[in-house]
Amino acid sequence: MLEAFDFVIFGGAGDLALRKLVPGLYRAHRNGELPEGTRIIPTCRNTQVVAEYKDKVRKAAQEHLREGEFVAADWDKFAQCIHPIFVDIAKKDEHWEELAALLNSGNKQRVFYLSTPPSVFSVCCKHLSEMNLITKTARVVVEKPLGYDAVSAEEINSQIAEYFDENCIFRIDHYLGKETVQNLLALRFANGMFEHLWDAKTIDNVQITISETVGLEGRASFYNDAGALRDMVQNHILQLLCLVAMESPNKMTAERIRAEKLKVLESLRPLTGNSVRFNTVRGQYAAGEINGKAVPSYQEELGNSSSIETFVAIRAHIDNSRWANVPFYLRTGKRMKQRFAEIVIQYKDVAHRVYPESAGRTVPNRLVIRLQPEESIKIIMTSKNLEKHETELRPVVLNFNFADTYKDFFSDAYKRLMLDAAANDPSLFIHRAEVAAAWSWIDPIIEAWQRPENNPQFYKAGGWGPRGADEMIHADGREWFNMDDVFASEDV
Ligand code: BG6
Repeated sequence: MLEAFDFVIFGGAGDLALRKLVPGLYRAHRNGELPEGTRIIPTCRNTQVVAEYKDKVRKAAQEHLREGEFVAADWDKFAQCIHPIFVDIAKKDEHWEELAALLNSGNKQRVFYLSTPPSVFSVCCKHLSEMNLITKTARVVVEKPLGYDAVSAEEINSQIAEYFDENCIFRIDHYLGKETVQNLLALRFANGMFEHLWDAKTIDNVQITISETVGLEGRASFYNDAGALRDMVQNHILQLLCLVAMESPNKMTAERIRAEKLKVLESLRPLTGNSVRFNTVRGQYAAGEINGKAVPSYQEELGNSSSIETFVAIRAHIDNSRWANVPFYLRTGKRMKQRFAEIVIQYKDVAHRVYPESAGRTVPNRLVIRLQPEESIKIIMTSKNLEKHETELRPVVLNFNFADTYKDFFSDAYKRLMLDAAANDPSLFIHRAEVAAAWSWIDPIIEAWQRPENNPQFYKAGGWGPRGADEMIHADGREWFNMDDVFASEDV
């Protein structure tokens, strides 16, 4: 059972803390998942903010929680465990003593969440260490951006490792905290029928898409340095790819799962030099329309010119026998037509067609795993049109909607991950070796993108990305599978 813990949030008044961390902890409190005596200690760099913190965080919670979740009486009780404190991370002064006194007065398990830019991770850990606050069981939680490339990631990881052992470092990829993402493992390893149909013999291609309708969301300076490849592919998309492609761990333990994921990352066929041009597409959104609303171009939103990508499509291969010659098409973009995250496993078509042409066409089977916003698993099959006497083949969908089974289901990835860190369960966190392996696949792509011929292609906001993304997949005789479009046209 989880024991009461102290949860220190460095950067306690920052965007992540206000939007995700404190609301997530409040949800945990409402669900009875926060043990009595737990203290949340957000640090702020400004005394004024400390004084106003409880009001600020209350307003933020009202804004970011879902309708009906904010209940004044529950909040007031929860707010009693919030102890905001003034600390300037960079300056070791008497305020660090106050933090130490507070923590030492409770002597509980400690979790230090570094919700700050990585540039202060090192000094923060140093001060924690000098104040003797890093107990044997203390954990540190860090979040992307974990570096800008392999070298900077290694530097950040080494800095933290000076103060914390690897098994006390919890690197967050919030996609792993989504229940639907974890369900991928259950789908694969607790259901014999899928695992038997999960390799190059049966699968034609795999598509992994995270499509967003949002644009910059006030994160211009971070995003314009990073771009979609670093922001989404290096972490979330590659983690999803690992879960789809990995071998079965012999046990569901953190070490076993991480070891299998690492093998996938290390088996990714490197994309370098000219192969980058052939296997990747960069895009940047131009002005357009989403859900009937006009939206400006990326550069207008940024207020500057930029050649960073807001869309990426990649044809990737995993060089092992399970996945020999099976392309993994990866795609993510901002200001797209629709928000969703989805994995499509497309099976090979029937080997020999027994029906005459007049029966219509068969479609390859597809397993479509929708991770968000709604959670479902669909199997697309060919059936006989039962309403016709003559044989007519048509696509039908077997649809399993998780909302039908889990009526009150709502996944809060941050809540889940914060509680796991408090419970010392690292299964859903990223090992240092995974970070390094992911960057070493990404770095050569970024390097090749420096050539002017690899500048992003423009795509209209509200569409499916640049033409190049279609051309890349069409060149293989395949198509992106956009479920809703396909069903609208009844052409699966
Ligand atoms: C973050 C990225 O990691 O994930 C954002 O930095 C992105 O750019 C977000 O919008 C998407 O997360 P979710 O959970 O909304 O799909």
